[in-house]
Amino acid sequence: MSQQMGLFRTIGVTAGGRGVSAFRGYATASRAGTMQEMTVPPRHSEEQHMAERLVDLRSDTVTRPTAAMRRAMAEAEVGDDHYGDDPTVNRLETRAAEMLGKEAAVYVSSGTMGNLAAVLTHCGRGQEVVMGSECHIFHYELGGTATLGGLPWQVVRNTRFGTMELDDLRGAIKTPAGGESLTGVLCLENTHNRCGGVVISPADLKAMADIAHDAGVPVHLDGARVFNAAAALGVPVAEVVREMDTVQFCFSKGLAAPVGSILVGSAEFIGRARRTRRMLGGAMRQAGVIAAAAYVALTEMAERLPEDHARARRLAQGMGDLPGVEIDLDTVQTNIVYFKLDPPNADFVPTLRERGIMLNGGPAGGRLVTHYEITDADIDTTLRAAREAVMAVAR
Ligand SMILES: Cc1ncc(COP(=O)(O)O)c(C=O)c1O
Repeated sequence: MSQQMGLFRTIGVTAGGRGVSAFRGYATASRAGTMQEMTVPPRHSEEQHMAERLVDLRSDTVTRPTAAMRRAMAEAEVGDDHYGDDPTVNRLETRAAEMLGKEAAVYVSSGTMGNLAAVLTHCGRGQEVVMGSECHIFHYELGGTATLGGLPWQVVRNTRFGTMELDDLRGAIKTPAGGESLTGVLCLENTHNRCGGVVISPADLKAMADIAHDAGVPVHLDGARVFNAAAALGVPVAEVVREMDTVQFCFSKGLAAPVGSILVGSAEFIGRARRTRRMLGGAMRQAGVIAAAAYVALTEMAERLPEDHARARRLAQGMGDLPGVEIDLDTVQTNIVYFKLDPPNADFVPTLRERGIMLNGGPAGGRLVTHYEITDADIDTTLRAAREAVMAVAR
């Protein structure tokens, strides 16, 4: 499907009428029977519509596989991964572990599963999980480690830059003298999504990890976008994660693969994590078909991430110049831009959507994320639309 808008916008409607979404024809891949397609007439003239394309800034997860990924998927050598027989999965795991400077890796279906498998493997039942107040595990993973693992949480306030005050962290880790630690794991996140995609430096990661390690507590990194962190720091990803015992990172975010994440750590830990993955229903069979795209993501897509960061920066600077739009430019360090609308403006996001800009947000503000399908022209289009939205309100 061409990325250019057709005469009609394709709208996917779930059978129950919920979850209406307007994409560039994404709904054609819908599951038979659960989704039907319908077309609606364009709101602008046909000519205008032909000239436009939707600019999807909702997340870096919306990318479609590149041509190289599709080729690799079609040609992938596969076997039963449950038996360890899938050469493409094995190659992906070996390469990911090497790149992160760890001994072993296990391929998982999502970032959420990677974090869950890591935490469940690190902790004994009843041990506490220490995490930041703004982290993804706390806000968006539906309490999986608590509900499925019986693991209580200790939440430490995150600073504006995604770190924790070291004294707060010390206070949250429980280590009775002579006994096994009541704390099972410390979870960190880099880049830090809710803090604006900020990058946590290796020095700050070490300072937090040292506190955990001194208490005998392992450290897990939710590195969904750790390659963005490495790109922004200009260092190999292994250097970013050196002090981490385990790391989960996603192929399906800035690296643009269609599916999958991976958990890396020591060989002993990953052996146990494989059992956890199986318990969670996450052991796969001929997973080489998707791992092939992840391998292309891992080996070919990281080097272009600075482009996404530069576009996010230009977007943030342009938006921040508009009256009523507030952006904390200090936190715009990678591909994520959060903005606030002050005073709140209920028309802003809908006006952008009408102009073909897709984003998450509401009257008080929102989030824009750049990725490999976003071009310089898309940034110009978005800034033009944002200016129009602000002017429309001012009139
Ligand atoms: C920081 C972070 N961690 C974990 C995840 C979960 O990844 P997934 O959607 O693959 O489960 C996300 C998803 O957006 C994320 O932003």
